[in-house]
Amino acid sequence: MEVNKLHQGDCLPFLESLPSESIDALITDPPYASGGLHIGARQASTTTKYVQGSTKRGFHDFAGDHRDQRSHLRWSILWLSECWRLLKPGAPVCLFTDWRQLPTTTDALQAAGFSWRGIAVWDKTEGTRPVMGRFRAQCEYIVWGSKGNMPLDRGVGVLPGAIRQVVKTADKHHITGKPVEVMRQVNRICAPSGIILDPFAGSGSTLVAAAMDGYQWIGCELSPHYRDVANTRLAALNYTNRDNRKERS
Ligand SMILES: C[S@@+](CC[C@H](N)C(=O)[O-])C[C@H]1O[C@@H](n2cnc3c(N)ncnc32)[C@H](O)[C@@H]1O
Repeated sequence: MEVNKLHQGDCLPFLESLPSESIDALITDPPYASGGLHIGARQASTTTKYVQGSTKRGFHDFAGDHRDQRSHLRWSILWLSECWRLLKPGAPVCLFTDWRQLPTTTDALQAAGFSWRGIAVWDKTEGTRPVMGRFRAQCEYIVWGSKGNMPLDRGVGVLPGAIRQVVKTADKHHITGKPVEVMRQVNRICAPSGIILDPFAGSGSTLVAAAMDGYQWIGCELSPHYRDVANTRLAALNYTNRDNRKERS
């Protein structure tokens, strides 16, 4: 199995090609299929759903975010079950989600066989849009668990249950991109120098954070555009990868 490589394509066949019990942590930010309660709202483009007017910066749309609730749950169980096979016993899993998809995400995690252990919070701070008379939608959630029993002696210290981190324009390379500093905090759940898998890599924030902190990583991304964005960021970290370069030439 080749590590420190970003694959471009649908993650399901890619995950099926990887060997069982080879991964130390699954850390990913899948399409939420959120942005509305009804099918019409969900099938709007991702730029329409997730980008506020003032922050539109010509980001590319991405696929896989259109499913209704039943099919999103079913699809999530499919790829999570494949990830369950890939993880080593006791390995952690962290899934980003929003408030609408929180129950579906915890259901999918458990239906795929993982033990659900909690929810951590990413607090995007008061930089998020205020709406009079309502609570500010300033948090996203990290549903986390493990493949069975999770030993305490993995070389990992105490981790914060809430990560407070503003989204900086210079650090946003995808419509729903996560700040690298958030991903560095989340990645710390992986055993030191272990292999982190992100099947929905987007602009590569999980992978960049992993590379910065001495983890190995494996990524997959459906969009050739975001694959290129991620590879550019990884290359900027002096992460040379012969095969990625060959693929892009
Ligand atoms: C929420 S975004 C991830 C953003 C990422 N965390 C970042 O910081 O840039 C989800 C990504 O999953 C990709 N995607 C959707 N369906 C996919 C599939 N079947 N296989 C692989 N990637 C897929 C989308 O193209 C999108 O870039």
